Amino acid sequence: MGKHKIAVVGGDGIGPEVVAEGLKVIEAAGVATELTHYDLGGARYLKDGTVLPDDVLAEWRAHHAIYLGAVGAPGVPPGVIERGLLLKMRFELDLYVNQRPFRKHADTVGPAHDFVVIRENTEGTYAGEGGFLRKDTAHEIATQGSVNTRRGAERCIRYAFDLATKRKKHVTLVHKTNVLTFSGDLWQRAFDAVAHDYAGVQTDYNHVDAACIYFVTDPQRYDVIVTDNLFGDILTDLGGAVSGGIGLAASANLDPTRASPSMFEPVHGSAPDIAGHNKANPIAAILSAAMMLDFLGETEAASAITTACNANLEATGTTVEIGDLIAAAVAG
Ligand code: IPM
Ligand code: MN
Repeated sequence: MGKHKIAVVGGDGIGPEVVAEGLKVIEAAGVATELTHYDLGGARYLKDGTVLPDDVLAEWRAHHAIYLGAVGAPGVPPGVIERGLLLKMRFELDLYVNQRPFRKHADTVGPAHDFVVIRENTEGTYAGEGGFLRKDTAHEIATQGSVNTRRGAERCIRYAFDLATKRKKHVTLVHKTNVLTFSGDLWQRAFDAVAHDYAGVQTDYNHVDAACIYFVTDPQRYDVIVTDNLFGDILTDLGGAVSGGIGLAASANLDPTRASPSMFEPVHGSAPDIAGHNKANPIAAILSAAMMLDFLGETEAASAITTACNANLEATGTTVEIGDLIAAAVAG
């Protein structure tokens, strides 16, 4: 396999620290890469106002993947970096699947489980529909609509069913159809239509509030979960919390059609409170690197890295020490 062209955005806070460990492990696995580093995020915005220039986005399209640490810095108004960088990346590159796997082994406290959340990644309340009326008056109104297209829901649901055929052949739709009778109805009908094409896959439905209970009390009921953007955002933080902590939670923002480069990032944020102390757990970023290699066809290296991470989930030490440990395990 040739060199993989990867755009790297370390970002803010602990982002660059954990990404450095991910890159170290990729190298230890013997995968050849050509890296382009981009200085973007809250710190860059505070320096010169740059968020995500169009020419950078154009350059990314010529890469095979994007590897991101975390973005967000104190002092930046809410939404500037989130909408202007992270969501712009997801939307412009049409990374419509956000895949977030959760696994917990039997030898830790709480029920063992192995499930994956497929979060719709380009629509819902994240779409940016809405606005203000009579702002800053006593009669102020703010609306923030949820945008749900049949095509958007269906392509994401289809991805979930495809994935389930390679796993335990079970997909759960999570929504709130009892209250969200328009968007929930669209999702349920799209789900039923796709399910029709997958006779060998069992289906289930949970309301999102009930799913929060089951994540804690009975996560073994899940194999693949498919859900909308905001429910998926919230559920996957909970998924991290019940699976050994958010420091272990990896994610892949995918364009399954491969028209655009997909983006790989830990679920956690930039954690400015612990930045620069060499104490962030790099495993979520390293597991995200493994998802990237898997998507790029480097399946052996990907599974070697995942195995090494799983064998060291309880590892203590600095960011660099944990990275070294996993790199050594991967290098054999
Ligand atoms: C995530 C993050 C982002 C999201 C934020 C930083 C915009 O929480 O990737 O889960 O809400 O999607
Ligand atoms: Mn989130």
